[in-house]
Amino acid sequence: MTLRISLSNSQSMPAVGYGFWKVERADAPHLTYQSLQLGYRHLDCASDYGNEAEVGDGIQKGLNDGVCKRDDLWVTSKLWNTYHRPEHVELACKRSISDLKCDYLDLYLIHFPITLRYVPFETRYPAGWFFDPNSPAPCLEYDPVPIIDTWRAMEDLVTKGLVRNIGVSNFGVSLIRDLLTQARIRPAVLQIESHPYLTQSKLIRYCQAENIAVTAFSPLGAPSYVPLGMAKPDDSVLELPLVKELASRHQKTAAQIVLKWGVQRGTAVIPKSSRVERLKENLNLGGFELSESEMTTISNLDRNQRFNDPGVFCELAFRSFFPIYE
Ligand SMILES: NC(=O)c1ccc[n+]([C@@H]2O[C@H](COP(=O)([O-])OP(=O)(O)OC[C@H]3O[C@@H](n4cnc5c(N)ncnc54)[C@H](OP(=O)(O)O)[C@@H]3O)[C@@H](O)[C@H]2O)c1
Repeated sequence: MTLRISLSNSQSMPAVGYGFWKVERADAPHLTYQSLQLGYRHLDCASDYGNEAEVGDGIQKGLNDGVCKRDDLWVTSKLWNTYHRPEHVELACKRSISDLKCDYLDLYLIHFPITLRYVPFETRYPAGWFFDPNSPAPCLEYDPVPIIDTWRAMEDLVTKGLVRNIGVSNFGVSLIRDLLTQARIRPAVLQIESHPYLTQSKLIRYCQAENIAVTAFSPLGAPSYVPLGMAKPDDSVLELPLVKELASRHQKTAAQIVLKWGVQRGTAVIPKSSRVERLKENLNLGGFELSESEMTTISNLDRNQRFNDPGVFCELAFRSFFPIYE
């Protein structure tokens, strides 16, 4: 049986999803289709990943071939930073739905609490971070849009039946608390970076108390960031003797131990892989449980190490200082 994470509104999402950041466009149709055949029913997408149309081809083929029904599938997409103005939210959402060929979204998230100047689709899609990558000194151009204005437009998407749930990503407690003071529809889900080196226990505890489900992105930690120069290979929790020891004790892989820890602490996990064997491995988390003391041992690895920090990468890669966690 598929493990599921309950939402406050009696809906639920599959606890293990397939994350599509950095899945090559050429690979996305067949990997999406194969993931559905393997049993994935939760797909984590975003306009910014630049592959929604190709993921959509895989979804369409899966639905047409009867691999699964639309109702059994959970599709998430994310509103990019350049579309926070209320008049752009529905346009961006409709573009994702049309690319993904899935009629509606199960979840639409504000990708970052970062508002950037609008870039029309005709100019560039996905828009990326730079306002004008061809200018002599490209940089980010901030556009001051209050989060509540964007949220009202997100709420309208639910009312219009374009999306079933709305939520936020890369938000901290203070922003969520403020949003809750005004939201007509509460955020159903918070998506954040979380792995054994960044357990985010206080933020997750706060969300659990507020009935906001949490999805952990980059649930394996460093490996996603090593090729980007944002982590070192020895930052990988998968290489730790302690994790390897638990893996051999349970006859599982290190990745399965780390993902199981994520699910057992009540978060959804959305590992990415471009290798079918690993997709199979990452979904196969049944048939074993980590004991309370094993869970604590893994949680104690926390060193508050964040790999995906706009306060760091925007400066290194986009010549713009844009801290959000300080
Ligand atoms: N909301 C946000 O701002 C945000 C930010 C980042 C990510 N995300 C979402 O979260 C998803 C997952 O995060 P992520 O892609 O950063 O990191 P991740 O899923 O934790 O790790 C992916 C990396 O681990 C490798 N890998 C996958 N399965 C493995 C296994 N069983 N054993 C060993 N290595 C394995 C992959 O390589 P191969 O592909 O070669 O297997 C890839 O290098 C993303 O795809 C995206 O959907 C959201």
